[in-house]
Amino acid sequence: MVQPSRRLEGEHQRWEYGHKTDMMCIKPQGKLCRSIWKGLILGTLLTSFLILLYSYTMPPLTLSSTGNPVFDCFSSSIQESSNPAKNSSSFFTQSCRPRQNLMFLKTHKTGSSTILNILFRYGQKHHLRFAFPRGRNDFEYPSYFQRSQVEGYRPDICYNIICNHMRYQHSEVRPLLPQDAVFVTVLRDPALLFESSFQYFARVVPLTWTIPGSGSKQKMDTFLQSPLSYYDSSGYNAHYLHNLLMFDLGYDNELDAKNPKVKLILKELDERFHLVMLMEYFDESLLLLKDLLCWELEDIFYFKLNARKNTYGSRLGPEMHLMAQNWNALDTLIYNHFNSTFWKKVEEYGVERMKQDVLHLQRKNELLIQECIAGGGPVDANKIKESGLQPWQPIGENVILGYNLKKNISKQHRQLCRNMLTPEIQYMSQLGADLWLTQLWASIRAFFKW
Ligand SMILES: *[C@@H]1O[C@H](CO)[C@@H](O)[C@H](O)[C@H]1NC(C)=O
Ligand SMILES: *[C@@H]1O[C@H](CO)[C@@H](O)[C@H](O)[C@H]1NC(C)=O
Ligand SMILES: *[C@@H]1O[C@H](CO)[C@@H](O)[C@H](O)[C@H]1NC(C)=O
Repeated sequence: MVQPSRRLEGEHQRWEYGHKTDMMCIKPQGKLCRSIWKGLILGTLLTSFLILLYSYTMPPLTLSSTGNPVFDCFSSSIQESSNPAKNSSSFFTQSCRPRQNLMFLKTHKTGSSTILNILFRYGQKHHLRFAFPRGRNDFEYPSYFQRSQVEGYRPDICYNIICNHMRYQHSEVRPLLPQDAVFVTVLRDPALLFESSFQYFARVVPLTWTIPGSGSKQKMDTFLQSPLSYYDSSGYNAHYLHNLLMFDLGYDNELDAKNPKVKLILKELDERFHLVMLMEYFDESLLLLKDLLCWELEDIFYFKLNARKNTYGSRLGPEMHLMAQNWNALDTLIYNHFNSTFWKKVEEYGVERMKQDVLHLQRKNELLIQECIAGGGPVDANKIKESGLQPWQPIGENVILGYNLKKNISKQHRQLCRNMLTPEIQYMSQLGADLWLTQLWASIRAFFKW
């Protein structure tokens, strides 16, 4: 039963029928109610299967609604922007023209869902072509990325944006994008990433089941005291617990940190990614991204999506923090390296200018929270009124928070507010992605109330 969760990790649609029908059936004939309820679910399951069959027989939906011309990836920047060149932001490029071809490597537990929402919004606004996975919201992670996993893939099609979860493989990604594509990703302090990953994925990593202790915090402490007693690199889903960044970036996460290969890897990453963002400096990261891509400030407005309940910060003490870093030594090397390049970029941008821009961005986000979000903040999943705004939950838990949209939003911001609050799966569906497998899995989980 564990199998699909690995693939469908992330935020997916929750199934709303259960709750609603439950509410309609009021007590006296409990049994009758239950059978009606079950019948409804069965009916819906059947429908899902029919849709499944349908999506097998039909050619996959592609994002052709935008009518983009098919462009050739090997003649550079065919995708001209209609916007006039702007002179404002960058000294380093003579003309700043918005760049619309982008590879975002979505790493796990790094705030990347929030960035995805930004990219979805931008792509939607400019009618860009996304390379979406087939049937689900990741590229068959944790297998390596293959071009053929792209929905509707043909060798002569070129895409604007690739941004779903994958295990990176450059030789397969590169040919999908025009020459001038920008490559970016996001990292996070490896100790905090480990903590978050342990909490989120422990249930789907069988080798954690035998760790003594109750609760994920205790288990994690025990694990970190002596990782090798509980860790088997060939175990199912083991990569979630050891150098997950390195794994997502497409390298061997079991490499010894002293191996000379590590230097080469860092060099390769330096050359490959134009910008490596850091979750700890999220606003700065987004501003660097905006600058690099020559986008507008409003393009990077955001609300935190996919946040967990009870995030009173990390529960790792300094000692555990260090142990978690040591255990994830490769990730720590990568993180430290890109932390230093990050601050060099901030210096180039201008330290004072960055400070001002961060304040400005935060003020704007704050205003949007007031305008868009009922109650001014996130709520538990069971308090979310619209199924379209329900985030996906990890197996067996209801811990990911979501939002309710305010009722009386100004006309000007109504659509922006809705888009900013729409979780990944629902947004992908809106953009034309075919998610039958994810949705089927969602209905199975709903059926078992799991
Ligand atoms: C950009 O700079 C050029 C010359 O430097 C100027 O003629 C033009 O008006 C500027 N455009 C904008 C939008 O500021
Ligand atoms: C990143 O680098 C900055 C500047 O060198 C330093 O102050 C900061 O502590 C580093 N952050 C982490 C999480 O290592
Ligand atoms: C929306 O309604 C609230 C309370 O009913 C009110 O305080 C607020 O001013 C209204 N906002 C707009 C934009 O009309």
